[in-house]
Amino acid sequence: FSRSFSESPSRSERPSFGIAFDIDGVLLLGNTPVGASPGALRRLYDDSGKLKIPYIFLTNGGGFPESKRAIELNQLLGVNVSPLQVVQGHSPFKRLVNRFENELIVAVGKGEPASVMSEYGFRNVLSIDEYANCFQNIDPLAQYKRWTPMQVIDEDTKVKNKQMTPKTNVCLERVQAAFVVSDPVDWGRDIQVLCDILRTGGLPGRNTGKQPHLYFASDDLEYQAAFPSERLGMGAFRIALESIFNRIHPNALEYTSFGKPNPSVFKNAEIVLEQLALSLCQNPDSVNGNAHNFKTLYMIGDNPSVDIKGARQAGQPWFSILTRTGVFKGKENHIDFPANQVVDTVEEAVDYILRKEC
Ligand code: G3P
Ligand code: MG
Repeated sequence: FSRSFSESPSRSERPSFGIAFDIDGVLLLGNTPVGASPGALRRLYDDSGKLKIPYIFLTNGGGFPESKRAIELNQLLGVNVSPLQVVQGHSPFKRLVNRFENELIVAVGKGEPASVMSEYGFRNVLSIDEYANCFQNIDPLAQYKRWTPMQVIDEDTKVKNKQMTPKTNVCLERVQAAFVVSDPVDWGRDIQVLCDILRTGGLPGRNTGKQPHLYFASDDLEYQAAFPSERLGMGAFRIALESIFNRIHPNALEYTSFGKPNPSVFKNAEIVLEQLALSLCQNPDSVNGNAHNFKTLYMIGDNPSVDIKGARQAGQPWFSILTRTGVFKGKENHIDFPANQVVDTVEEAVDYILRKEC
């Protein structure tokens, strides 16, 4: 991509393509860059370090506010990342604020799940660690654990309490919804506490009516982390919770799963990429805010049943590129969800795109 823009591209120069990068198994394995990802991303910036090709991170992962994850990705990958470019599994939860703004909700998962939800505007949030501490003996195995959940939530509580309206004894309120924001840390305790919430209408210990709402940020059965073979993801946790709940409760578990491959995730990604492209333009009003200004949107992923399936379902203008650094390790293409292009690494994927487009 030899041409570098001395200043922001005008509409005619504005790239007619954008890129969505999956993170786990494409750019990172755990916290380690893979596939020469830092160099590949740097090619999307001009010599002064200004972004010239609109791209986003489109991950089913999460657990930290987008602003915090952007800083972490900046440190891990060595490129300037704006929070606008970070689209996580739980990012769509912000659309549910109006419905649960002041209701008591419980946030589950690694990292700072309560801060994630508070930053979206939910005003009455407890992490599952905090909520479990409302009830003595709710986890009969707590005494055998090397750490107590409370020890690890200081950061989460500090940030979240700044945004929360002080409540009397929130533990006595009915839980209206549970959000599984990121991969649960203590499956046994979380399944127990979620079953207590869901089968008592949100008031553990007292039996009442309607099952509270249950939302999952994604439904990945497995994903690629630093271990050589895939790790169990949030979808595996959902299957465990669902099979147990359905054995101890007369009605089947009701839930909503977000994340790739949902078509709405790719629709939203188009809008975010369009906003990003407009911000690169000199005279944004010269371009109507229509995602179809993109000739092609590239989805670079490692999981055929999540990343490639999602791009295929989304249809035009999506073009899927499958890498071999994550879940997929095959020689040819995937049988059930064949990608438009298969490469070894994300560096090869970016090479392919820049050769094709420029
Ligand atoms: O928990 C992360 C996992 O679900 C997959 O993340 O980046 O491959 O969509 P990603
Ligand atoms: Mg992945």
